[in-house]
Amino acid sequence: MKVVNLSRNGAVKVRRDVKNLLEADCELLPKSFIPGEWIVLSDQKEKAAYLAYINLNADNEQSMIRVLSKIDGYIREKMHLQGSDLGSLKENEIGENYLKFAINAAIKRRNFFGEFEDDCMRLVYGDADKLPGLVIDKYCNIILVQINTEGIDRHRNIIQKTMALLYPENAVYFLDNAEERVKNGLPIWNDEYSWQNRVSKQHIMLKENGFKIIIDEAVIQKVGYYYDHRYNRHKFENMVKKISRKKIKCAKGLDLFTYAGSWGMHQLRAGVSHVDFVDQGKFSAVVEQNLMLNRYEGKGIFYRTDVYDFLDRRIEEKLKYDVITSDPPAFAKTVRNKEKAINGYLKLYEKIFQILESNAVLAVCSCTNYVSLEDLDFAVNEAFRRLKARDMVSSTGANSIQLVDIGMEGPDHPIASLGDKTHYLKYLLYILSE
Ligand SMILES: C[S@@+](CC[C@H](N)C(=O)[O-])C[C@H]1O[C@@H](n2cnc3c(N)ncnc32)[C@H](O)[C@@H]1O
Repeated sequence: MKVVNLSRNGAVKVRRDVKNLLEADCELLPKSFIPGEWIVLSDQKEKAAYLAYINLNADNEQSMIRVLSKIDGYIREKMHLQGSDLGSLKENEIGENYLKFAINAAIKRRNFFGEFEDDCMRLVYGDADKLPGLVIDKYCNIILVQINTEGIDRHRNIIQKTMALLYPENAVYFLDNAEERVKNGLPIWNDEYSWQNRVSKQHIMLKENGFKIIIDEAVIQKVGYYYDHRYNRHKFENMVKKISRKKIKCAKGLDLFTYAGSWGMHQLRAGVSHVDFVDQGKFSAVVEQNLMLNRYEGKGIFYRTDVYDFLDRRIEEKLKYDVITSDPPAFAKTVRNKEKAINGYLKLYEKIFQILESNAVLAVCSCTNYVSLEDLDFAVNEAFRRLKARDMVSSTGANSIQLVDIGMEGPDHPIASLGDKTHYLKYLLYILSE
């Protein structure tokens, strides 16, 4: 295996836990590498070594060198590495060995939280599990794997075999994100394990907080399901039950950006009598099926439309709701667009506040990396303040809002600190009062 010396700057970055390096972060690189070749990065000053892989074909300069882990005593023991000459290790074997170790470690980390129903959860989450570009989601019936980096993609077969061995009851498929792969110079696979070539048209079946959820194979997004809000949805349901035990019995709910209907079904179980589900995607059959599966048929209507148009119509009709959940897609992909994203939330909440009853419950979510809990809370409060200043919430009679709960991603999306790049999910719960 090739050993590459880090430049002074590169070594500082790695010591600070930066995971993506540039060519310039290394001293003279050998002339050629196999795309995704595994290497040892050497920090000569600190006498430390790091396992990494390199792909000089990646379009995005930032993802050319991905650092996996420091090669310390723990890793040496787990991977059975002996001796001090890392250069003598076989590149291919190290890759396979590390993947098996890191996948098992990720699963063990999740098993600590024994309450995941039927093992339905995100088993591996990229950098958060020291496996850059690898996401694995486990459902009741299948396992979906997504790979976005060449270093991992070279060991596709090992990942397939490892998962099949660990979960013999589940079919394992690769659901690749073509756009991401092209960006990283990766081939588009079309083999027996590709999701598009599965033998039967399987739906995704999963369980969450006691709900059974089916997602039609034709409409799945991302790697299938948004497990990340599981704990927030659970907390939300309990809070709504608690806050409005009496009033909520005949309440009207709204689930914006619904996808498979999860937030809305939690509203129904909390006591809301009817929910409007809104999404621009083709999820009518999915939502109806999930309502039926959980015995809520007739308790909800799906509207396939743009959320902003829907809100404008409701404002015009003066139709109001007692409970609203809003779980939109990310509003910004770079830190440069942070202000734009905050303004996007502001615009959204200005509309939402106009259709809330005076004692309503509002849950807002954000999966935008660069928008913090404080930023999101600012957008909610600022929207309310602006409307009040224009006397536009007066028709609801709401005079104040109270923040009653906050949340983040669940433990199957591990983070070490709020400052981690892998921390992205936010949840805030408010009640309005007269
Ligand atoms: C983060 S996902 C929602 C996840 C979902 N709430 C859940 O709990 O599983 C965002 C959803 O917003 C939808 N969407 C994005 N922009 C939209 C828009 N302008 N109007 C309506 N739906 C939109 C997407 O189709 C997607 O289903």
